[in-house]
Parts: sequence; structure tokens; C-alpha cells
Amino acid sequence: MPKPKVFVSRIIPDEGLGMLRAIAETEVWQDELPPPRDVLLSKVKQSDGLVSLLTDKIDGELMDANPRLKVISQMAVGYDNIDVPAATARGIPIGNTPGVLTDTTADFAFALLMSAARRIPEGIDFVRAKKWKTWGPLLLTGPDVWGATLGIIGFGRIGQGMANRARGFNMRVLYYDVYRRTDLEQSMGVQYVEMDTLLRESDFVTVHTDLNEKTRHLMNADAFAKMKRSAILVNASRGPMVDHAALYDALKSGQIYGAALDVTEPEPINLDNPLLQLPNCIIVPHIASASIATRAKMATMAAANLIAGLRGEKLPTCVNPEVYERGIRT
Ligand code: GLV
Repeated sequence: MPKPKVFVSRIIPDEGLGMLRAIAETEVWQDELPPPRDVLLSKVKQSDGLVSLLTDKIDGELMDANPRLKVISQMAVGYDNIDVPAATARGIPIGNTPGVLTDTTADFAFALLMSAARRIPEGIDFVRAKKWKTWGPLLLTGPDVWGATLGIIGFGRIGQGMANRARGFNMRVLYYDVYRRTDLEQSMGVQYVEMDTLLRESDFVTVHTDLNEKTRHLMNADAFAKMKRSAILVNASRGPMVDHAALYDALKSGQIYGAALDVTEPEPINLDNPLLQLPNCIIVPHIASASIATRAKMATMAAANLIAGLRGEKLPTCVNPEVYERGIRT
């Protein structure tokens, strides 16, 4: 039997590639940039399985490019780049990598929160620009983290990870989610509030929900108008959760104090976006899950999903398990 063919749309950690190469003829896209659309389509035409990244647009057209494409395994927890109903309708299981990146991502979101509050990037720039002349009583002062109120929007795994970290900083923790988690409130010391209350009372607002049509631009001019003038927004979920034009106005006018973004709309952010000029806005290039160990685990999980899909077995972590009731492509 010839080995199945797999296309991997970027170089991923060896831990995952090794697993794939052991069972499949594996082609890996070598560029730093994602494969252009026509290349991705032509690679899919020759593949039984695809390892995708969140930078690939995975839609019905791509799935139809090859009726033998049996599985798509995304090396990410989020999958808003994938048309999941289209995959289900075609009998294609989709894998993702939940769980392994929770703590790494929450660590990073908390680091963003602290960096924005305590103005660490501004401090680094200040020293590098040779502006440090003396200790200054008013130099780069910012709000305290210890004892402040943290508002978590989206209380899934990563949101809960933020609450766990906040406890160590003696923070009052509020959360909002469409699913109230009464089972966790007492043990985690968190309080459920409506979105408006969260926005009004929080010193830090951190966003950890999925991106969908209901959550797109959840953080908009209305939301910023409800926040404290001293508040800081953290976003390590997906860029379109935040209306960037409204954020710019809110930061520029002092409606809110600061923002720290791991994700933008689009990615990368346009170089002429005025947010890049604001000292009270930190932007980093979507690296919240980028610890060496976590990326290796994500690659391993993505490989395990892909291999299961090639074998016609259930994916260990499948975003559309309903596909098995409908019947999968063989
Ligand atoms: C990263 O953003 C992911 O969804 O894994």
C-alpha cells in the first residue's frame, strides 16, 4: 500500500513532523509566509490529509479541490479560519489543539497586563533612547496590579487560567460568559456579573472568548465608554474581537488608560495603523502560545489528530464530532 500524502502548511516543531513522516509522505511548506491560495489548493489536490495553521483559509472550495482529502488538522486551539459546517457537510473531521496551550497563553496574557500597567515597553524604549538621566518620582508611573479588579470576558480554559493567576496578585475577579459557571465561583473566588458591570468596575478587562459573528467587535466604542478612564484592555484571543478604530479613539482621548494586544485585525497589523504610534498601546505578533514546550505539544497533538483521521479513526480532539454521525469521507 502506498503511504498516504500529507501537506503541512508551514514548518512545525519536529516532534509533530517526525510522527507524520513515520506514516505518511509528508510535504512541508518551507516559507516563512503561508502558502498562497493557489499553492494551497494545488497541494490539497494531491493530499489525503492537511495540517493547517490559523493563517490558512480553509473553506468549501478548498475541501472540494480533492474528494480524497480525509482530514484537516489545525495546529491551534482557535479555528475561526475554518468553515466547520462546510467540513461537516463533506464528511471531513477537523482537529484542533485545546488544553496544552492554556497555561502558556494565560501566562502571556498576564504578562501583557503587567507590562501595560507598569509600562515596561515604554521603560525599555526610554533606556534605549538614552533618556534615563536620574531616578524620577513621576517617571513612568502606572496603575497597581496587586489588589486591582480583573474583568474576564469568556470564562473557558484560558479565562479561568487568568483567574488563577489573579488570585496570586490579590485581585478581585469578575467574569462574564454566556455560560455561567456557578460550579467554579466559590472555589475559584470569582464573581459572575453582567457585561456592563464588568466593564464599569474592572481595572483590567481581558478578552478570552471565541471569535464568531456575535463576538466580533465586542470591544467597541460603547464598551470603551463604559470602562474606567484608568482601565487597561488586554486581548490575547482574536484581533476582530476589538474594534481597532474605536480603540484608537478611546486610547487617544484618555477614555481608557491603555491596551495590550497579542492579536490584531488584520494580522499582521497594517504598518500605517495609528495604534502603532500610541505609547499606551502595546502590540506583539500573536505569540501568546509561543513557548517551546507548548508549540511542541501542539505539533504532537496536531499530528495525532491527522494520523487518526488518515486511519478513519476518531480524532482525539475533534471540533466537529457530529461528522461521525453523518459519516466521514473514506
Ligand atoms: C492561537 O491563537 C491558537 O488559537 O492556538
